Amino acid sequence: METSGSMSHKIVVVGIGPGHPEYMLPAARQRILGAKVLVGGRRALSQFSSKDQITMAVTRDIPAVLAFIRVQLSRSDVVVMVSGDPGYYSMLDALRREFPRDRMEVIPGISSLQMAFSRLALPWHDARLLSFHGRRPEKEQLAYRPGALLGLLTDGEYHSKKISALLMEMGWPEETEMFICERLSYEDEEITALTLSEAAAREAVGNCVLIVWDKAGGEIYAPLGNGR
Ligand SMILES: C[S@@+](CC[C@H](N)C(=O)[O-])C[C@H]1O[C@@H](n2cnc3c(N)ncnc32)[C@H](O)[C@@H]1O
Repeated sequence: METSGSMSHKIVVVGIGPGHPEYMLPAARQRILGAKVLVGGRRALSQFSSKDQITMAVTRDIPAVLAFIRVQLSRSDVVVMVSGDPGYYSMLDALRREFPRDRMEVIPGISSLQMAFSRLALPWHDARLLSFHGRRPEKEQLAYRPGALLGLLTDGEYHSKKISALLMEMGWPEETEMFICERLSYEDEEITALTLSEAAAREAVGNCVLIVWDKAGGEIYAPLGNGR
């Protein structure tokens, strides 16, 4: 049983939110500032790390990052920064397979999806949340339903152009509205409203959030209940 000494060190997975420090919880900032060992993407490290911290940048080589964390845990807690909320497609997934729950603490963050829905003043309780970031949703998850609302993560390969074309193939009307939400929370944040057919004809935007909303004939928000 892991009870004391070095074995009691924890991995603290901290959600840093969509990027701008104003949108990070004080508890997250406190854990990052107090970290002896700090792991995160290059951008997060350049924003939040200090000289006296031992750091490691997360790359595609996840096994190397896990090995680094395992070594560091023998002497200290390790703080791992992830974008948005740790519970929605982050390194928490890989960490949770490798380490038991009692070695982990998770500090939530504002997901990029939450931020996008907030910007559009749209409730997201009925939305279908899906990720195209390094994965592909099942076809059934993309099926058209009148009044449906989608919140999508994207990457460099599956971007606004490809996804809008795919949705039209899946039966979404070409006039369905798509909001391309880029660099949310940063000074240069941009939100563009287009129809699916316009998005398919325009230049591709990746690594953003896409909100797709079939207004089902009305401009006014009209909740339809579950089963969208
Ligand atoms: C690995 S996923 C991480 C999701 C994260 N855990 C969350 O809750 O937002 C990375 C994707 O999140 C989205 N994303 C993260 N930060 C963003 C931002 N500031 N603006 C727009 N999209 C963002 C993009 O779709 C990006 O490709």
